[in-house]
Amino acid sequence: MNWSELPGLLLIGHSLGGAVVTDLAKSGKLGNTVLGFAVLDVVEGSAIDALQSMQSYLLTRPKNFPSLSSAIEWHTRSRTIRNTTSARISVPSLLRLDPSEPSANKTKTWIWRTDLAATEPYWQGWFTGLSKKFLDAKGGKLLLLAGTDRLDKELMIGQMQGKYQLQVFPEAGHFIHEDQAEKTAMVVADFYRRNDRSALVLPPKVGDLLKAKISA
Ligand SMILES: *[C@@H]1O[C@H](CO)[C@@H](O)[C@H](O)[C@H]1NC(C)=O
Ligand SMILES: *[C@@H]1O[C@H](CO)[C@@H](O)[C@H](O)[C@H]1NC(C)=O
Repeated sequence: MNWSELPGLLLIGHSLGGAVVTDLAKSGKLGNTVLGFAVLDVVEGSAIDALQSMQSYLLTRPKNFPSLSSAIEWHTRSRTIRNTTSARISVPSLLRLDPSEPSANKTKTWIWRTDLAATEPYWQGWFTGLSKKFLDAKGGKLLLLAGTDRLDKELMIGQMQGKYQLQVFPEAGHFIHEDQAEKTAMVVADFYRRNDRSALVLPPKVGDLLKAKISA
């Protein structure tokens, strides 16, 4: 962006992305430019429990789709994404035309852009220690969960100690920011306002007051 210095930042990540922003916030690599970070629908305990059924979940997904609209329809019918408008916007970027298709009589199909199953060796490492990192990182913290997720013990204790802001959207599925786009935006904007240091109104400095008095 060619910024000479970084402005105040809010980091936001969903699911695995939540683990990534938490790791970045905890590492302190962005110094005190990070005003806060928000994690959408991922909790260490339930993420690690869910890993066991991940491969079988991936097997239930269609391997390809005859068209983008059929892919969008699959996402909404399976309730993977519950907001049709959101699915129309985000699903096309998840897919690409199958390049391996023989040119013969067959029509082109759309396949997943990312081979999630191939990333299995890293799954455990992404989520282990996430709750501790989340609580230890500096800056404001927001955890936004869909109805199905539960806090693990560390997060529950942290919540009781008021270490972060918790927001639960019971009507949303895992793609919480797509299912409830407006509510998510409102919570994030509010979180930003609460952590924005530039909005702090500081009392005037004594020196300035004296100068004002002298010139008066
Ligand atoms: C190609 O597809 C058309 C229409 O589906 C079909 O009638 C035809 O028999 C197919 N040709 C071959 C070689 O498969
Ligand atoms: C559904 O998604 C669209 C696009 O993301 C968004 O504008 C709309 O507000 C969403 N609906 C709800 C109920 O959040």
